[in-house]
Amino acid sequence: MTSNAVSVKELSKKFGKFVAVDKVSFDIPEGEILGLLGPNGAGKTTTIRMLCGLLKPDSGSANVLGYDVAKNPEEIKKRIGYMSQKFSLYNDLRVAENLDFYAAIYGISQASERKKRVDELLEIAGIKDFRRELTKNLSGAWRQRVALSCAIIHDPKMLFLDEATAGVDPLARRSFWDLIYQLAGRGISVLATTHYMDEADYCNIIAMMYQGKIVALAGPDEIKEQQPGVLIHIETDKPVEAQEFLTEDNTVINSSVQGVQLHVTVPDEQAIPNLRARLDQAGFAVHALEVIQPSLEDAFTAIVQREREES
Ligand SMILES: Nc1ncnc2c1ncn2[C@@H]1O[C@H](COP(=O)(O)OP(=O)(O)OP(=O)(O)O)[C@@H](O)[C@H]1O
Ligand SMILES: [Mg+2]
Repeated sequence: MTSNAVSVKELSKKFGKFVAVDKVSFDIPEGEILGLLGPNGAGKTTTIRMLCGLLKPDSGSANVLGYDVAKNPEEIKKRIGYMSQKFSLYNDLRVAENLDFYAAIYGISQASERKKRVDELLEIAGIKDFRRELTKNLSGAWRQRVALSCAIIHDPKMLFLDEATAGVDPLARRSFWDLIYQLAGRGISVLATTHYMDEADYCNIIAMMYQGKIVALAGPDEIKEQQPGVLIHIETDKPVEAQEFLTEDNTVINSSVQGVQLHVTVPDEQAIPNLRARLDQAGFAVHALEVIQPSLEDAFTAIVQREREES
């Protein structure tokens, strides 16, 4: 039986009267990656801060690596890795010195043990060639790898990443995720927040958060499959205007503009000819119209639209 690295039940946090986290529940089995997704202000960072033992919950419970966040926050802080968007590295230290410094902070007191661990991480993170480089000279993508290495220098079994890939180019994000995967393969469990939907496909479990609540919790494929109706991809010169026009249409379950494309969900394929006819009649030049599989971004847009309509 696999046990859970993290187990959260009805966890809640208020700031004054404002409910930032509202009865959130999920589990992260050992060695798995959970992606916590949601728009700005959804409550992701607040959830992470409670799980890291940095913020006391108002109600509910959370267990991290066998410790209760409310009762044993200090035990949790020692045993987890945490990388926030505003991770701090010492710019005037060399890469290996930064790692050594964090190892000392985490209480690895023997210099020989610190060196062993620093060498190991330089290897794992692929940053050996930079060991003597001043940290301030590194590009964003390499700094990020150094920051991750610092966050796991003490060999934590649980890693929290809060927008760790923000501001890094797509290629570097991909190789960063390869590294996260490797870590999960070594038995480290991961909770990662991100605004990039393409990253969610790397996760074993997706928890979508909206206005403090979990609105979807499943594997990425399941979340896509759970979406009702048929998704149509439309290419037209005026996607925004076409979406506006279609909001009047009662066969349209939801719609979203993604760059120059318009994505529209209808109940079934029978609704498609009518939809096309109405767009033609209204004078929208339709260059392409086809049924596609929903992406996580489509699923997320649909779920949030449903939540908005219900609230
Ligand atoms: N210390 C605080 N005092 C008052 N309100 C707070 C505090 N911390 C967070 N909030 C509010 O709680 C809500 C959730 O914030 P949180 O930072 O958890 O969101 P988030 O999902 O991480 O957003 P983002 O994607 O922008 O990082 C926001 O409305 C925020 O303004
Ligand atoms: Mg945040």
